[in-house]
Amino acid sequence: MIYTSVLTSLTNLDTLYLDSLLLDSPLGTHEETLKAYRILEGYVMQKKVRHLGISNVSLPKLERLYDECHVKPSIVQNRFWASNKWDVGVRRFCRDHGMVWQSFWTRNPQLLKTALVQRVAEGVLGNGDRKEEALNLLVLVLGRGWWEGGGVAILYGATREAAMKSDLEAAVRVGAVSIGERMEFSRLVGEDD
Ligand SMILES: NC(=O)c1ccc[n+]([C@@H]2O[C@H](COP(=O)([O-])OP(=O)(O)OC[C@H]3O[C@@H](n4cnc5c(N)ncnc54)[C@H](OP(=O)(O)O)[C@@H]3O)[C@@H](O)[C@H]2O)c1
Repeated sequence: MIYTSVLTSLTNLDTLYLDSLLLDSPLGTHEETLKAYRILEGYVMQKKVRHLGISNVSLPKLERLYDECHVKPSIVQNRFWASNKWDVGVRRFCRDHGMVWQSFWTRNPQLLKTALVQRVAEGVLGNGDRKEEALNLLVLVLGRGWWEGGGVAILYGATREAAMKSDLEAAVRVGAVSIGERMEFSRLVGEDD
C-alpha cells in the first residue's frame, strides 16, 4: 500500500522524487511502526524521497522510533491543542534534534479568544479583526531560537484565495512579534523557559 501510494504520488506530481513522506500515525505496536517506517527509509535510500516524518505521535513513541530508525525523521506533524499540553514535550524533542514541528488544527478557538492574539492583531497587523493571522504569527515564532535546525511550521488548510493572500501577507510580519509577546505565547502553550 505504501509502495502504491509513493508511486502514485510520483506520477501525479510528475516528479522524480518527493520532498517529504510522512507516516500518518504510529501503528498498533512499535514493531509494526518500525516495519512500516523501514519501507519509507527504503525510498530515501533509492532517492525517491528526501525527508521522512511521522504524524499523530506521542513523545515516548517518537523517542523510541528516533532511537531505532536509520533515517531520522525531519518532520513531526501533530495536533496543536490544550488536551496534549500543546504538544510541548514533542516540540522540545524536535527542537533538540533539529526536526520541524508542524501543527495542524492550528486555528484554536481557545487561543483565538486571548487578549494576546488581539493585541498582536492590532499591534503587529494594525487590524484587530485579523486574529487568525495573528495566531499564525505567534505559532510561527515558537520556532524562533531553534538554532540547530528544524523550526515550527503550520500545515495549512485554507481553500479561499482571499484567506491565503491575507495569511501570506501577514506571515512576512513574523519578525515584528516582540520577544515579550513570544514569551507570553510560549507560556500560554506550555513552555516555562
Ligand atoms: N496529520 C493529520 O492527522 C491531520 C489531521 C488533520 C488535518 N490534517 C491536514 O492539515 C491541513 C490543515 O488542516 P487544518 O484542519 O489544520 O486546517 P486549518 O488550516 O487550521 O484551517 C483551515 C480553515 O481555516 C480557514 N482560514 C484560514 N485562514 C483564514 C483567515 N485568514 N481567516 C479566516 N479563516 C481562515 C479556512 O477557510 P477557507 O477554507 O474558507 O479558506 C479553513 O476553513 C490539511 O491539509 C489537513 O489534511 C492532517
